[in-house]
Amino acid sequence: MWDLWLDRAKPLVPVMVIEDPEDAVPMAQALVQGGVRLLEITLRTRHGLEAITRIKHEVPGAIVGVGTVTSAQQMEDALNRGAEFVVSPGISPELLECARRWGGPYLPGVATPSEVLQARAAGFKYQKFFPAAAAGGIEMLKAFSGPFADVKFCPTGGIGQKNYQDYLALNNVFAVGGSWLTPAEAVSARNWQAITTMAIAG
Ligand code: 3PG
Repeated sequence: MWDLWLDRAKPLVPVMVIEDPEDAVPMAQALVQGGVRLLEITLRTRHGLEAITRIKHEVPGAIVGVGTVTSAQQMEDALNRGAEFVVSPGISPELLECARRWGGPYLPGVATPSEVLQARAAGFKYQKFFPAAAAGGIEMLKAFSGPFADVKFCPTGGIGQKNYQDYLALNNVFAVGGSWLTPAEAVSARNWQAITTMAIAG
C-alpha cells in the first residue's frame, strides 16, 4: 500500500497535533495543496479522532492516518473513524496482534534491532524509526540496512527542514515524518499559506 500511495504523494508524513478541531480541515487542505497527502493525525490531544472524521469527509486527496497509537482500543477507535493507516511510537504484543487482525497499513515504531525483528516477525516490513535523532539517526539506519535489507523505514523524531533530505536519500527510507511541516506558530496564527509553501518546497 505504501508503494501505491507514494506513487502519487510526496514521501513526507506530517505529524499533526490538533489543538483546535476547527484547524484540522484548513491545515490538511494546506498540506494537500502542497502535494503532501499522507497525514498522520496524532491522538496526543482529545481532538484527534474528530479531526480524522472531519478531514476524511472534507479534504479530498488526503490520505488520513492516525498516530501516537498506544493501545488496541485506540487503533480500533481510529479505524472506526476511517483512518487509512496507523502509526505507533513503539510496539507491544497487543498492538501487533490488533494490526495483524486488521491487515491494513500499519507502521510499528522501532528503535532497536530487536524491535525491528519483532515487528518484521509479525509481518510488518514498513516500520517507523522513532525517535530517529535520539536513537542514532542516519548512522543507525545505515547499520539497519545490512541485517534488515528487506525492511523499510519512516524515520521521525528530531527531523526538520535542514536534514529531512539526508534521511530520504537512504535506500532503506521510504518516507520521512515529523512535526516541522505544521509548525505550531503557523497553526496558531492560522497561516495556512506558510504551510502550503513549505509543503510545495518539500
Ligand atoms: C512523532 O511522533 O513522530 C514525533 O514525535 C515527531 O517528532 P518531531 O516533533 O521531532 O518531528
